[in-house]
Amino acid sequence: MRITYYGHSTFGIVAGGKNLLFDPFISPNELAKDVTVDSIPADFIFISHGHEDHVADAVSIAKRTGATIVSNFEIVTWFGAQGVDNGHPMNHGGEWSFDFGTVKYVNAVHSSVLPDGTYGGNPGGFVVKSDGVSFYYAGDTALTYDMKLLGDYEDINFAFLPIGDNFTMGISDAVIAADFIKCDNIIAMHYDTFGYIVIDKDRAKKEFTDKGKQLSIINIGESIDL
Ligand code: NI
Ligand code: MN
Repeated sequence: MRITYYGHSTFGIVAGGKNLLFDPFISPNELAKDVTVDSIPADFIFISHGHEDHVADAVSIAKRTGATIVSNFEIVTWFGAQGVDNGHPMNHGGEWSFDFGTVKYVNAVHSSVLPDGTYGGNPGGFVVKSDGVSFYYAGDTALTYDMKLLGDYEDINFAFLPIGDNFTMGISDAVIAADFIKCDNIIAMHYDTFGYIVIDKDRAKKEFTDKGKQLSIINIGESIDL
């Protein structure tokens, strides 16, 4: 699968012939100023929770592309009120088969409110299976024992984990999370965007390699194939 990083927790992934976009937060992100939001493709936009740093560009991209918003019921309802007609509401533990593959909305330990103060339901993450490959997009979350369920019952090939600390788990807990989900191929997210989450990237990579795992830190605007 081709994975493109747009900064913070925003990734574009081509899976099953569709463009999946996760948590678009680009135009307010100074680190992503060279990314052209209006050229990002999307067939589906996944929203892990309602915070501004995960939804900022979702309305404009959805209206331009006609993409379907996939999130919890409360967030999909809010996007409907913003004039985004295509939405697929989910809730924790539920799985659905889309044309590109299956999606399960899974637990996250965090909070969730939309930018205008509307209740954003409970935050989550996604397990996506497509083309015989499974990946986990954790969203914003603490290290949680629920991740062991994913390790025991899902066969996760790669995972997007937050590593910036303060608002989410940090590097050391992300290494433990990788153990819990039984996945050695981790892609870093939710770091460096704000002062609270600036990290030492060399230290992060070393903590993972010391445990026999790989941490991919993708430059903003660049792509990797997994
Ligand atoms: Ni958040
Ligand atoms: Mn966040």
